[in-house]
Amino acid sequence: MPINIAIDGPVGAGKSSISDSVAERLGILHLDTGAMYRAVGLALVRMGVDPSDEAAVSSRIGEVNVSVRYEDGKQHTYLGEEDVTGLIRTAEVSAAASSASRWPAVRRAMVAAQQRMAAETDMLIDGRDIGTVVLKDSPAKIYLTASAEERARRRYLQNLEAGDDTPYEKVLEALNARDYQDMHRETDPLRRAEDAVLVDTTELNYEESVEAILRIVEQAYGI
Ligand code: DC
Repeated sequence: MPINIAIDGPVGAGKSSISDSVAERLGILHLDTGAMYRAVGLALVRMGVDPSDEAAVSSRIGEVNVSVRYEDGKQHTYLGEEDVTGLIRTAEVSAAASSASRWPAVRRAMVAAQQRMAAETDMLIDGRDIGTVVLKDSPAKIYLTASAEERARRRYLQNLEAGDDTPYEKVLEALNARDYQDMHRETDPLRRAEDAVLVDTTELNYEESVEAILRIVEQAYGI
């Protein structure tokens, strides 16, 4: 049985970067499933399909070929043969991904691809439905969160560094809107699995958060 670690949590909890560090420390791959939904969002934007239109999305999702490849241990996300890793972090793609990820046809396709990868390889997987759906049987589940204000503050500072000076209030509003959508959709909403360990990073720094997760994995797998 491969080692499969599940990390879920809301927007801006630091899942991606913390998961990267934990996976690197364990010497296993990290699968960022949000990138896969973002690639779907980008494909829909390009095709001119409204991501909130379930019928349209469901009828075109078969044309969207999302895959993940690893180069030097780092995830690259592909649409067909095109590496779209650098194109999926825009506000437009974030909103499209959050909207389209509601639809069962989209989720079925992504979950199946994720489960295929996890069945073959030691992996840490992060997303919204990993502990509840994708890796339901994993012994190592973490629900990573922090207060909305702290998550928005971190995102705001990251944006500033990247030259984006969107006001803090707007960042907080967009974060709350996306959380609401992710937590209230009918299919596989974001929620803490009953057997997931809660890690609240509001008062933890980066290294402390990584260490907290490593301890949970050690307990679960004895590694
Ligand atoms: O983690 P992220 O912000 O990159 O995710 C982008 C969107 O994809 C997010 O709004 C919700 C959706 N998502 C999902 O529905 N299920 C996952 N396992 C991962 C992400």
